[in-house]
Amino acid sequence: MSKKTIWITGASSGIGKATAMKFAMEGWKVIISARRTELLNELSKNENIYSYPLDVTNAVNAKEVFNNIINDHGNVNLCIFSSGTYERKSEKELNVENIKHVMEVNFIGVINCVSAVEKYYKTKNNGHIAIVSSPVGYRGLPKSSGYTPSKAALNNFTQGIYFDFKKFNIKVTLITPGFIKTALTDKNEFKMPFLKSTKYAANEIFDGLTKNNNFEIIFPYQIKLIYKLIQILPNKIYNYLISKYVNR
Ligand SMILES: NC(=O)c1ccc[n+]([C@@H]2O[C@H](COP(=O)([O-])OP(=O)(O)OC[C@H]3O[C@@H](n4cnc5c(N)ncnc54)[C@H](OP(=O)(O)O)[C@@H]3O)[C@@H](O)[C@H]2O)c1
Repeated sequence: MSKKTIWITGASSGIGKATAMKFAMEGWKVIISARRTELLNELSKNENIYSYPLDVTNAVNAKEVFNNIINDHGNVNLCIFSSGTYERKSEKELNVENIKHVMEVNFIGVINCVSAVEKYYKTKNNGHIAIVSSPVGYRGLPKSSGYTPSKAALNNFTQGIYFDFKKFNIKVTLITPGFIKTALTDKNEFKMPFLKSTKYAANEIFDGLTKNNNFEIIFPYQIKLIYKLIQILPNKIYNYLISKYVNR
């Protein structure tokens, strides 16, 4: 049987990198993208991993890169869009330029990649897109004027295209990790509850995408339970709890 092929963005570090290594270890052909070419080249020394540098904010570049991938490898079965940015210190006050930048990378950047693969998947009437967003997108949080809204938009977008793409036999999965130890969270100065490693995240993502059929892959289970509750709490209770325990 020929190898399955996966395209992963945000693969130069963190969750994307660990997931690339996991899929490669499981025998998939793995195409990796991000901006830092030297990190991608290092990773592509591994068997089964191929580097295609990309800045996801550049829509034209996203289409070119995806066309190059198809020309070189012939097929892509699964895409994981994991690129993202977060500068906690820039979010404590309203900073319009920072918010625009975060939306451009976290929201529009993912849409650029979905748009790059859309026609290909629709034409072959088959495919799978997985988007790494965040459970924090489910409700507003203090001191997060860019990141949380960008993930709210992404959660909503992902659920929307789930319906639109289903008609074309294209599966859409939302991935919402809890706290994972990466360069992105290393900047947090607070104690992160239920913090997990990138290897743990990669295993959860691999199992969720290849062995289960749920719309959302949310982990660890403690975060899953907390967020199921958070999603249904009335504003009065949610606002009280966040004001008391988070907004300090
Ligand atoms: N860590 C967590 O606790 C956590 C929890 C929930 C969700 N997430 C989400 O998980 C995803 C991965 O984050 P991470 O924690 O693994 O952090 P990370 O190690 O900082 O990874 C971010 C990745 O995004 C890439 N990226 C950033 N801007 C890009 C751009 N303009 N074009 C292309 N690639 C770009 C980075 O590569 P280059 O800099 O080389 O471009 C890097 O590979 C993000 O979407 C994040 O929001 C993380």
